[in-house]
Amino acid sequence: MIVTTVTVRVPAKINLQLAVGPLRPDGYHDLVTVFHAISLTDEVTVAAAEADTVTVSGEGARQVPADKDNLALRAVSALRAVTALRGTGPSGGAPAGVAVTIRKRIPVAAGLAGGSADAAAALVGCNELWHAGFSQQDLCEVAAGIGSDVAFAVLGGTAVGRGRGERLTPALVAPARYHWVLAFADGQLSTPTVYGALDRLRGAQAVAAPELSAELMSALRAGDAGRLGDALGNDLQAPAISMFPPLRSTLTAGREFGALGSLVSGSGPTCFFLARGASHATDLAVALSGAGVCRSVTRVTGPAPGAGVIPPQAI
Ligand code: C5P
Repeated sequence: MIVTTVTVRVPAKINLQLAVGPLRPDGYHDLVTVFHAISLTDEVTVAAAEADTVTVSGEGARQVPADKDNLALRAVSALRAVTALRGTGPSGGAPAGVAVTIRKRIPVAAGLAGGSADAAAALVGCNELWHAGFSQQDLCEVAAGIGSDVAFAVLGGTAVGRGRGERLTPALVAPARYHWVLAFADGQLSTPTVYGALDRLRGAQAVAAPELSAELMSALRAGDAGRLGDALGNDLQAPAISMFPPLRSTLTAGREFGALGSLVSGSGPTCFFLARGASHATDLAVALSGAGVCRSVTRVTGPAPGAGVIPPQAI
């Protein structure tokens, strides 16, 4: 059967831990992070076309670049280059271009790696469209060249990221399902700016190499939501709050409403809260929404699977 259209569902991520080391000469920071994929997803369709194009609809669509800066289009080009090297690219007269259609539910510049997710989905989609036969590990290697968070969106689940965040090891976790509430902010933060603010806050002080939280990993192995809530941590939280002070009251409100843990996600400004279970998540979402401390709220669960093709009959 000739495949001409492939649709991929891909998750957003939160970082349960984000430990940031010193600034490296290449402008990045060494990290130790615990990525956790959640059930807030984008859908990306790739279709054979004469030329590469991208169309974006949904949440924050107007802020997503629709030119060569689009991460999903960069992913298409990167995979095409690798397939050309291996001789596994589009063949048999199939058009070499790809029309990418992105339906967004993950807010843009929110600390949830939505752009990276779309790039990961494009990799998984083109792999199928072109019958390229790359393994998940191959795709993660291509992903690492596109952005620090792209490889994790291919993998999904819960994983430890090192290096820039692209060197991944799946975490050993109990088969627990966690209930989270996300509080979306009325605004956006740029990731490089928040890293820059962290460097300024640290000033000339010596910065230790980042370390994985033994307590957080132990809580995940035990599937203990209470201990997990206490162990959440993010070195980018202080700089994110310094750039976006209302986040302080969002986090405080979550704690007052009984969240087991509360944290800024990645470089922010989305905050996330761990609930005791499904009904507590609803109570927490209602309370946060009523308190007027954020633009909107949503309930999600995690871990969620990584980028995966949606069978055509399910679309
Ligand atoms: O890799 P990505 O393009 O997502 O990174 C965006 C920016 O975030 C980088 O240009 C850098 O300023 C900052 N960053 C960092 N250290 C990391 C990841 C990102 O300083 N490990």
